[in-house]
Amino acid sequence: MTALEGIRVVDMTHVQSGPVCTQMLAWLGADVIKIEPPGRGDVTRSQLRDLPDVDSLYFTMLNCNKRSLTLDIKSPEGKQVLSDLIERSDVLVENFAPGALDRQGFSWERLRELNPRLVYASIKGFGPGSYESAKAYETIAQAMGGSMSTTGFEGGPPTSTGAQIGDSGSAIHLVAAVLAALLQRTNTGRGQRVQVSMQHSVLNLCRVKIRDHQRLAHGPLAEYPNGEFGSSVPRSGNASGGGQPGAALRCRPGGPNDYAYVIIQPQVWEVLARTIGREDLACHPDYATAEARLGHLDEVFSLVEAWTQQRTKWEVFEQLSAINVPCGPVFDTSDVVADQSLRESQMVVPVEHPQRGEFLTVGCPLRLSDSPVVIHSPPLLGEHSGEVLKDVLSYDDRRIVALKETGVI
Ligand SMILES: CC(C)(COP(=O)(O)OP(=O)(O)OC[C@H]1O[C@@H](n2cnc3c(N)ncnc32)[C@H](O)[C@@H]1OP(=O)(O)O)[C@@H](O)C(=O)NCCC(=O)NCCS
Repeated sequence: MTALEGIRVVDMTHVQSGPVCTQMLAWLGADVIKIEPPGRGDVTRSQLRDLPDVDSLYFTMLNCNKRSLTLDIKSPEGKQVLSDLIERSDVLVENFAPGALDRQGFSWERLRELNPRLVYASIKGFGPGSYESAKAYETIAQAMGGSMSTTGFEGGPPTSTGAQIGDSGSAIHLVAAVLAALLQRTNTGRGQRVQVSMQHSVLNLCRVKIRDHQRLAHGPLAEYPNGEFGSSVPRSGNASGGGQPGAALRCRPGGPNDYAYVIIQPQVWEVLARTIGREDLACHPDYATAEARLGHLDEVFSLVEAWTQQRTKWEVFEQLSAINVPCGPVFDTSDVVADQSLRESQMVVPVEHPQRGEFLTVGCPLRLSDSPVVIHSPPLLGEHSGEVLKDVLSYDDRRIVALKETGVI
């Protein structure tokens, strides 16, 4: 038995944010039925294609363990099928542009009429207020959630992060909200509306920058490498920005990702100084305490870098880990896919796909001892249309054929 066994999810998501949420629900054991426009399907099936006429990796890496039902929700018959499905489901997840589902006659009021136990979960770009009706994509959320202005190097432009904190970040927030609503339903018997905005999710992940913004009122941020401070938190490159100073340091042989990230906790300075051959600084008053180092962190890290540059990032990781100094080699994407530990822990997983053969996906980071995740191939477009109408809605063959012939499914 899996954690969400018996939970049926009507998945009306597309692009990245919504599908990541429903893929996670599927991995936790829910029966996720993805509804897609007939003919085209989720737009990502054909975006960023690496092979002709085959579902893209964009789609396949976000839609594993789901079933696909093609359904024209703009036709009267399609609306009837959707209504029947909603009556027999626990959760509906969507991330259309604001108002799209309402325009099709499926407002929150109508949804709860159809099924008072339904959890209706949405991702939008923004919450209620001035930006409510605007569309949003990942980088817009990063721009408006406080991330872009605080990422990058001093003097450089605002920068987006590689981690998809607007899309996948919102998805994880929505998973938490859906699970809470399902739990509440066990006590109240009622479903509820659950909303997550991409801007809010990014801001939640930028919490520490709002902390630092308020600290600015009381003087410069000593742990930031920046020389001057204005009225907002500056971009601080690779400085950790936390209570423990850190830096990305160059390693041998000097390629673009030959770096190791090293953090100098107060308690490791002495052993670190000895290891890098600077025993003279181990107890030196200008270096021995965190406070003394704070005024010249750049110089302190360049002393460590003189040592890391003689070694590969893997040697640095091994040697500093051995003396308990927090450190991590910078993984480029080929390091990620080749990493034995990530393979063994099922975070980089080969999946067999009927059209493209084997592809790699990123596994489920949630580990439940009683609900193991087994990753299955994503569905082909409409692969389960007949099956869903028969098994879930008990439609007979004649009705299913008629829906097919009229292009509703
Ligand atoms: C991502 C986004 C910008 C894309 O915008 P878009 O391409 O214009 O797509 P929309 O969401 O407006 O939906 C497209 C249309 O397809 C229709 N549609 C969707 N599924 C359908 C189906 N199964 N059958 C028939 N029509 C369908 C919708 O009803 C809508 O029609 P309408 O414009 O006539 O109302 C927008 O969906 C959005 O802002 N979503 C919320 C935030 C978000 O998730 N952003 C993306 C993160 S990756």
